[in-house]
Amino acid sequence: MKSIVILISGRGSNMESLLDAVDSGALPVSVAAVISSRADAQGLTTAAKRGIPTQVVDHRQFPRREDFDAALAEVIDALSPDLVVLAGFMRILSDGFVTRFTGRLINIHPSLLPSFPGLHTHRRALDEGVKVHGCTVHFVTTALDHGPIIVQAAVPVLDDDDETRLAARVLAQEHAIYTQAVRWLADGRLQLVDGRVRLDAPQDGEGLLTAPRIRTGR
Ligand code: GAR
Repeated sequence: MKSIVILISGRGSNMESLLDAVDSGALPVSVAAVISSRADAQGLTTAAKRGIPTQVVDHRQFPRREDFDAALAEVIDALSPDLVVLAGFMRILSDGFVTRFTGRLINIHPSLLPSFPGLHTHRRALDEGVKVHGCTVHFVTTALDHGPIIVQAAVPVLDDDDETRLAARVLAQEHAIYTQAVRWLADGRLQLVDGRVRLDAPQDGEGLLTAPRIRTGR
C-alpha cells in the first residue's frame, strides 16, 4: 500500500475528505502524517483526533523561503512517502523543493486552471462574470498554481451566487476529485511522464471532467 503525507495550512476539509475515504476503504493508502505550515491550523486538531500523526513546520520561524522548504523537505523525507498531497497548503514552494518531489507532488486549486491562479478565485470568477467555474487537481511544477492537469470539475455560476455559495459548490467537487486523483495514484494508474499526465483509466465517465448540469427551463 502506498503511503502519503498531507500538507495543510488551515481548515483541512480536503484533508478530512481524504481521511474519510481512507477510513471507509475507498482510498487504499496509509497516511504517514499531516504536516502544517501553521501551528493554529484547524486541520491539525481534526487529524490528531483521528489518530493521524501531525507535525508543524512553522513558516514564520524561517526568514528565507529556502530554509523553510529545506526543513519541510527533511520532515517529509524522514517519512519516505510515495506521494505528497497539498491540501490547502498556502505557501509558495521553491523550485528546489518542487524539483525534489516532481511526479509525486500534487495540489488542488479552487478554479479551472489556467484561469484564476492565486488567491480569491471565487470572488474573481464572480467579478469576471464567468458562467462556469470549478476546481483542478494538478501535478506541481515550478510555476505557481500551474502544472499538468490530472482532473477538473466544473460547476455552474448562478445569477444569485455570492462568494460563499459559489465556494461551497466548488468545495464539494474538490472533495470528490481529490479523492479520485489520489486513488488513481494509489492504484498506480496515474503518472507524470515527460511532463505530461499519463492516466491508465477509462477516459469517459470516470470523472476526468465533472460537467455542470445545465437546466434548459421548464
Ligand atoms: C481549498 O479550496 C483549496 O482548493 C484551496 O484552499 C482551500 C483549502 O480548504 N487551495 C488553494 O487555494 C491553493 N492554491 P481546506 O483547508 O478546507 O481543504
